[in-house]
Amino acid sequence: MRKHTRRAAPPNTTFYSMQQPKAHFAAHLPDESATAALGAALARALVPGLVIYLHGDLGAGKTALTRALLHAAGHAGTVKSPTYTLSEPYRVNIGGQSVNVIHYDLYRMSSPEEFLDAGFREDFDGSNVCIVEWPEKGEPVLPPPDVRVLLSVSGLGRDVELQALSELGLLCLERLSYVQPS
Ligand SMILES: Nc1ncnc2c1ncn2[C@@H]1O[C@H](COP(=O)(O)OP(=O)(O)OP(=O)(O)O)[C@@H](O)[C@H]1O
Ligand SMILES: [Mg+2]
Repeated sequence: MRKHTRRAAPPNTTFYSMQQPKAHFAAHLPDESATAALGAALARALVPGLVIYLHGDLGAGKTALTRALLHAAGHAGTVKSPTYTLSEPYRVNIGGQSVNVIHYDLYRMSSPEEFLDAGFREDFDGSNVCIVEWPEKGEPVLPPPDVRVLLSVSGLGRDVELQALSELGLLCLERLSYVQPS
Protein backbone atom coordinates (compact mmCIF):
# COMPACT_ATOMS: atom_id res chain seq x y z
CA MET A 1 0.00 0.00 0.00
CA ARG A 2 1.21 3.47 -0.77
CA LYS A 3 2.41 5.47 2.19
CA HIS A 4 0.50 8.63 2.87
CA THR A 5 3.38 11.00 3.10
CA ARG A 6 2.28 13.81 0.85
CA ARG A 7 0.79 16.96 2.25
CA ALA A 8 -2.91 17.52 2.09
CA ALA A 9 -4.10 20.38 -0.08
CA PRO A 10 -5.76 23.15 1.90
CA PRO A 11 -9.54 22.71 2.02
CA ASN A 12 -11.33 24.74 -0.59
CA THR A 13 -14.68 25.63 0.87
CA THR A 14 -15.86 27.52 -2.22
CA PHE A 15 -15.35 24.42 -4.34
CA TYR A 16 -17.26 22.23 -1.88
CA SER A 17 -20.27 24.48 -1.54
CA MET A 18 -20.60 25.64 -5.13
CA GLN A 19 -23.85 23.81 -5.73
CA GLN A 20 -26.73 22.70 -3.52
CA PRO A 21 -27.11 18.90 -3.69
CA LYS A 22 -30.40 17.52 -5.02
CA ALA A 23 -30.13 14.67 -2.50
CA HIS A 24 -27.59 13.41 -0.07
CA PHE A 25 -26.75 10.32 1.90
CA ALA A 26 -24.52 10.14 4.97
CA ALA A 27 -23.10 7.22 6.93
CA HIS A 28 -20.38 6.29 9.36
CA LEU A 29 -18.00 3.60 8.09
CA PRO A 30 -16.58 2.00 11.24
CA ASP A 31 -13.94 -0.08 9.47
CA GLU A 32 -12.59 -0.93 6.06
CA SER A 33 -15.20 -3.64 5.48
CA ALA A 34 -17.88 -0.92 5.69
CA THR A 35 -15.99 1.09 3.06
CA ALA A 36 -15.88 -2.05 0.93
CA ALA A 37 -19.63 -2.58 1.38
CA LEU A 38 -20.35 1.00 0.33
CA GLY A 39 -18.06 0.58 -2.70
CA ALA A 40 -20.01 -2.53 -3.68
CA ALA A 41 -23.33 -0.72 -3.20
CA LEU A 42 -22.07 2.12 -5.38
CA ALA A 43 -21.01 -0.36 -8.07
CA ARG A 44 -24.60 -1.65 -8.20
CA ALA A 45 -25.93 1.92 -8.40
CA LEU A 46 -23.61 3.12 -11.18
CA VAL A 47 -25.07 4.66 -14.29
CA PRO A 48 -23.05 4.97 -17.53
CA GLY A 49 -21.69 8.49 -17.95
CA LEU A 50 -21.57 9.20 -14.23
CA VAL A 51 -18.84 11.54 -12.96
CA ILE A 52 -17.91 11.02 -9.31
CA TYR A 53 -15.63 13.38 -7.39
CA LEU A 54 -13.94 11.90 -4.32
CA HIS A 55 -12.98 14.50 -1.71
CA GLY A 56 -10.99 13.86 1.44
CA ASP A 57 -7.56 14.18 2.95
CA LEU A 58 -4.81 11.71 2.28
CA GLY A 59 -5.72 8.36 3.73
CA ALA A 60 -9.42 9.23 3.91
CA GLY A 61 -10.31 6.14 1.85
CA LYS A 62 -10.85 7.45 -1.70
CA THR A 63 -8.81 4.69 -3.31
CA ALA A 64 -10.17 2.04 -0.91
CA LEU A 65 -13.71 2.98 -1.95
CA THR A 66 -12.83 2.95 -5.66
CA ARG A 67 -11.05 -0.40 -5.32
CA ALA A 68 -14.09 -1.97 -3.67
CA LEU A 69 -16.34 -0.49 -6.35
CA LEU A 70 -14.20 -1.88 -9.18
CA HIS A 71 -13.90 -5.33 -7.63
CA ALA A 72 -17.65 -5.48 -7.05
CA ALA A 73 -18.19 -4.42 -10.67
CA GLY A 74 -16.20 -7.44 -11.79
CA HIS A 75 -12.59 -6.27 -12.09
CA ALA A 76 -10.46 -9.18 -10.88
CA GLY A 77 -6.99 -7.59 -10.85
CA THR A 78 -5.33 -5.10 -8.55
CA VAL A 79 -6.44 -1.49 -8.25
CA LYS A 80 -3.72 1.00 -7.37
CA SER A 81 -4.05 4.72 -7.19
CA PRO A 82 -2.80 6.11 -10.53
CA THR A 83 -0.44 8.49 -8.78
CA TYR A 84 1.98 8.95 -11.66
CA THR A 85 -0.10 8.03 -14.71
CA LEU A 86 -2.95 10.18 -13.28
CA SER A 87 -5.57 7.92 -14.86
CA GLU A 88 -6.27 4.20 -15.11
CA PRO A 89 -9.07 2.68 -17.20
CA TYR A 90 -11.00 -0.48 -16.28
CA ARG A 91 -13.56 -2.37 -18.31
CA VAL A 92 -16.40 -3.61 -16.13
CA ASN A 93 -20.00 -4.68 -16.33
CA ILE A 94 -22.76 -2.33 -15.27
CA GLY A 95 -26.25 -3.80 -15.43
CA GLY A 96 -25.26 -6.22 -18.20
CA GLN A 97 -23.52 -3.47 -20.17
CA SER A 98 -19.75 -3.29 -20.70
CA VAL A 99 -18.59 0.15 -19.53
CA ASN A 100 -15.24 1.90 -19.03
CA VAL A 101 -14.64 3.10 -15.50
CA ILE A 102 -11.73 5.54 -15.47
CA HIS A 103 -10.06 6.22 -12.14
CA TYR A 104 -8.11 9.48 -11.80
CA ASP A 105 -5.79 10.72 -9.09
CA LEU A 106 -5.03 14.32 -9.98
CA TYR A 107 -2.92 15.07 -6.92
CA ARG A 108 0.31 15.36 -8.89
CA MET A 109 -1.15 17.24 -11.83
CA SER A 110 0.87 20.39 -12.22
CA SER A 111 -1.45 22.47 -14.41
CA PRO A 112 -4.86 22.39 -16.10
CA GLU A 113 -3.04 22.12 -19.44
CA GLU A 114 -1.72 18.72 -18.38
CA PHE A 115 -5.32 17.50 -18.05
CA LEU A 116 -6.23 18.87 -21.47
CA ASP A 117 -3.01 17.72 -23.20
CA ALA A 118 -3.50 14.17 -21.87
CA GLY A 119 -6.92 14.13 -23.55
CA PHE A 120 -8.67 13.48 -20.24
CA ARG A 121 -11.49 15.85 -21.06
CA GLU A 122 -12.56 13.61 -23.95
CA ASP A 123 -12.94 10.72 -21.47
CA PHE A 124 -15.94 12.57 -19.97
CA ASP A 125 -18.13 11.60 -22.90
CA GLY A 126 -21.42 10.67 -21.29
CA SER A 127 -20.77 6.93 -21.44
CA ASN A 128 -17.57 6.39 -19.42
CA VAL A 129 -17.85 6.41 -15.64
CA CYS A 130 -15.17 8.79 -14.34
CA ILE A 131 -14.06 8.63 -10.70
CA VAL A 132 -11.77 11.46 -9.66
CA GLU A 133 -9.54 11.69 -6.60
CA TRP A 134 -8.27 15.20 -5.79
CA PRO A 135 -10.70 16.94 -8.17
CA GLU A 136 -9.61 20.26 -6.63
CA LYS A 137 -6.46 19.91 -8.74
CA GLY A 138 -8.50 19.75 -11.92
CA GLU A 139 -10.05 23.15 -11.59
CA PRO A 140 -11.18 24.82 -13.80
CA VAL A 141 -11.02 22.34 -16.68
CA LEU A 142 -12.40 19.23 -14.97
CA PRO A 143 -16.02 18.56 -16.06
CA PRO A 144 -18.55 18.93 -13.21
CA PRO A 145 -19.59 16.00 -11.00
CA ASP A 146 -22.89 14.13 -10.86
CA VAL A 147 -22.01 12.76 -7.44
CA ARG A 148 -19.68 14.22 -4.86
CA VAL A 149 -18.32 11.90 -2.15
CA LEU A 150 -16.89 13.52 0.98
CA LEU A 151 -14.78 11.22 3.14
CA SER A 152 -13.23 12.14 6.49
CA VAL A 153 -11.51 10.34 9.33
CA SER A 154 -13.83 9.89 12.32
CA GLY A 155 -12.45 8.05 15.31
CA LEU A 156 -11.06 4.75 14.05
CA GLY A 157 -13.40 4.83 11.05
CA ARG A 158 -14.60 7.25 8.39
CA ASP A 159 -17.58 9.50 7.86
CA VAL A 160 -18.95 9.65 4.35
CA GLU A 161 -21.44 11.87 2.61
CA LEU A 162 -22.67 11.39 -0.94
CA GLN A 163 -24.28 14.31 -2.72
CA ALA A 164 -26.26 14.11 -5.95
CA LEU A 165 -25.64 17.20 -8.06
CA SER A 166 -27.43 16.30 -11.29
CA GLU A 167 -30.34 14.17 -12.51
CA LEU A 168 -27.86 11.36 -13.26
CA GLY A 169 -26.42 11.71 -9.76
CA LEU A 170 -29.92 11.62 -8.31
CA LEU A 171 -30.62 8.40 -10.22
CA CYS A 172 -27.45 6.89 -8.76
CA LEU A 173 -28.35 7.87 -5.19
CA GLU A 174 -31.90 6.59 -5.63
CA ARG A 175 -30.48 3.25 -6.73
CA LEU A 176 -28.00 3.13 -3.84
CA SER A 177 -28.81 0.41 -1.37
CA TYR A 178 -26.33 0.50 1.49
CA VAL A 179 -27.15 -0.78 4.93
CA GLN A 180 -24.98 0.65 7.66
CA PRO A 181 -23.44 -2.06 9.85
CA SER A 182 -25.00 -2.14 13.33
N1 LIG B 1 -13.97 2.84 7.13
C1 LIG B 1 -12.68 2.75 7.41
N2 LIG B 1 -12.23 2.73 8.68
C2 LIG B 1 -10.91 2.67 8.96
N3 LIG B 1 -9.95 2.61 8.01
C3 LIG B 1 -10.33 2.63 6.73
C4 LIG B 1 -11.70 2.70 6.36
N4 LIG B 1 -11.77 2.71 5.01
C5 LIG B 1 -10.52 2.65 4.56
N5 LIG B 1 -9.64 2.61 5.59
C6 LIG B 1 -8.17 2.61 5.52
O1 LIG B 1 -7.78 3.93 5.28
C7 LIG B 1 -6.73 3.96 4.33
C8 LIG B 1 -7.25 4.67 3.13
O2 LIG B 1 -6.27 4.71 2.17
P1 LIG B 1 -6.57 5.20 0.70
O3 LIG B 1 -5.37 4.92 -0.11
O4 LIG B 1 -7.86 4.66 0.24
O5 LIG B 1 -6.74 6.77 0.95
P2 LIG B 1 -6.91 7.93 -0.12
O6 LIG B 1 -8.03 8.79 0.35
O7 LIG B 1 -7.02 7.36 -1.49
O8 LIG B 1 -5.57 8.75 0.03
P3 LIG B 1 -4.72 9.57 -1.05
O9 LIG B 1 -5.24 10.98 -1.05
O10 LIG B 1 -3.31 9.50 -0.55
O11 LIG B 1 -4.88 8.91 -2.39
C9 LIG B 1 -6.34 2.52 4.06
O12 LIG B 1 -5.28 2.17 4.92
C10 LIG B 1 -7.60 1.75 4.42
O13 LIG B 1 -7.31 0.46 4.93
MG1 LIG C 1 -5.93 7.57 -3.20
